[in-house]
Amino acid sequence: MGEAVVLVTGGSRGVGAEVAGLLAERGDVGTVVVNHRDGNKAWMARAVAARVEAAGRRALVLRADLTDPDETRGMLADLEESAGRLDGLVLNASGGLERWADEGYAMRINADSPVRLVDAALPLMRPGGRIAFVTSHWAHFERYESPVYAPVARSKQAGEAALRARSARLAARGVALTVVSGDVIADSPIALMLDRLNPGWLAARRDRVGPLPDTRAFAGAIADAAVPDGRGARPPATVYVGSTRM
Ligand SMILES: NC(=O)c1ccc[n+]([C@@H]2O[C@H](COP(=O)([O-])OP(=O)(O)OC[C@H]3O[C@@H](n4cnc5c(N)ncnc54)[C@H](OP(=O)(O)O)[C@@H]3O)[C@@H](O)[C@H]2O)c1
Repeated sequence: MGEAVVLVTGGSRGVGAEVAGLLAERGDVGTVVVNHRDGNKAWMARAVAARVEAAGRRALVLRADLTDPDETRGMLADLEESAGRLDGLVLNASGGLERWADEGYAMRINADSPVRLVDAALPLMRPGGRIAFVTSHWAHFERYESPVYAPVARSKQAGEAALRARSARLAARGVALTVVSGDVIADSPIALMLDRLNPGWLAARRDRVGPLPDTRAFAGAIADAAVPDGRGARPPATVYVGSTRM
């Protein structure tokens, strides 16, 4: 699938940036589309695009706030014009802990947006296409250790349920959905921020379950789920990264 086109939402930093880079460096994707939200951080998306291009792949940076239906439609129109098709969709963009987030924001970005994007992107996808929904064990198992995370967990759970409810419709078009759920990602800014709010909990989790996954390990599993393998094999419905002991 050397010509495959894969869109990574929230691909400008963190896990999404690593997914975009790995997709290019592994060589099984022709074009990596890097979506992000904040125009002031466009330089981060451009840095990811440079990594993709350094690996000899084509990069497109498409800024769009995915909670905005018009911006989402505009992004897909630009993608169709530039790339003509979509083979893989990584639903990675996430939020709800931002200082400016209002009460309903977590649900809009983590549940409403991925569902709207899947519905709008499906006509661009071909049989054999893959969708990876990125979530956390805290959301997937509904067992979060920090109350600050509760609205995010509930919204990501709602997003996962709504997407799984579409599995049959996706399968009818030959598109498979994989939910990729991760334990706390030890080197992520969010994990380090939560550790500052509740000092010692990262170490306590390590003591209980062993080494925690890092960004590269999580991103590798997400990239695996997003690339059609060309042999027609059905990917797993759920992939876990890190310990599932909650
Ligand atoms: N960090 C962890 O410990 C952990 C554990 C398990 C699962 N996960 C999951 O992994 C995924 C990535 O997490 P992360 O920690 O890497 O996130 P992050 O560092 O906060 O990055 C978020 C990305 O999403 C983009 N984004 C945010 N709001 C958006 C919007 N409305 N529209 C479009 N893009 C938007 C951001 O772009 P801008 O910078 O331009 O706003 C950025 O590229 C999430 O689904 C998260 O739930 C994380």
